Amino acid sequence: MRLFEQVSALRAYLRGVRTEGDGKEIGFVPTMGALHEGHASLIRKAKSDCDVVVVSVFVNPTQFGLGEDLAAYPRSISSDQQLCSNENTDALFIPSIEEMYPAGFQTVVEVTEIASTLEGAHRPGHFAGVATVVLKLLNIVQPDRIYMGQKDYQQGLVIERMTHDLNLQTEVVSVPTVRAADGVALSSRNTYLSPEERRAATVLYKSMQTARDAVATGEADAHALLREMQAVIAAEPLARADYVCLVDPATLKPVTGISNAATLAVLAVRIGKTRLIDNMLIAPPGVSAVRPRLAHYER
Ligand code: PAJ
Repeated sequence: MRLFEQVSALRAYLRGVRTEGDGKEIGFVPTMGALHEGHASLIRKAKSDCDVVVVSVFVNPTQFGLGEDLAAYPRSISSDQQLCSNENTDALFIPSIEEMYPAGFQTVVEVTEIASTLEGAHRPGHFAGVATVVLKLLNIVQPDRIYMGQKDYQQGLVIERMTHDLNLQTEVVSVPTVRAADGVALSSRNTYLSPEERRAATVLYKSMQTARDAVATGEADAHALLREMQAVIAAEPLARADYVCLVDPATLKPVTGISNAATLAVLAVRIGKTRLIDNMLIAPPGVSAVRPRLAHYER
């Protein structure tokens, strides 16, 4: 595995990959490190689709708000390197903050509507930070495909919107959420949880499962479903919901009922001081719960 800290060195390597290997496809997995099986599944999918896989580890300061966990965000670069190398990553890019945001930096990429709701409404500026750093990384790596986890569903939509709107040649590939045996979505932020809080964190999955089970048995009213979901969260003393929503999986606009299409159950819940997010596609009987794709532009 090749290790790069500088944009210029990574670019030189990728130029070589492109000219040597005629038609070699490049896959890219951006991360903030503290890598776990969820990240590994993205790398594995990228490896199975592409000839060369680039992973980045960069804790991007511009996507953290004031009072958020930038300073505390877990950092474990040597075990991250180990995981990437075990997954046969070809190149690992670990830039410094100065490498990504040199003095004088003053450009922000803003996706509007789709980034203004849910996480966007609760974390002002978050998606501008994400879109800006991901566009920079896409321009540096110029991959054929970027791999994003369904765990951060809205983030995936924001990046997909940006790639379409700005005519990037990269395809966004969404990879299913990897969960622990008790349903909790793997997340770097789970390391903040005490054993008691880790047990309480199962309410996110339980709440979504409640909605899925109710829909499977014919409940179609969004208010009734949301009440059931909220009741599961309310029953856990360590949990406090930021939001619990049922939305259209393409537009993220609230739905009033479950019709003949998949609906996204999406929630953000504080467990003690730790804020966790999760989501699940829910579909009525006979309808498949798949993520809709944006219509493809001519590329
Ligand atoms: P990070 O939280 O490290 O996540 C990197 C990628 O891993 C994201 O696409 C995320 O959705 C995916 N991921 C995280 N947990 C997962 C799980 N349990 N199952 C499947 N995939 C999972 O998301 C970011 O970093 C940053 O915002 C980034 C895109 C790198 C920009 O800074």
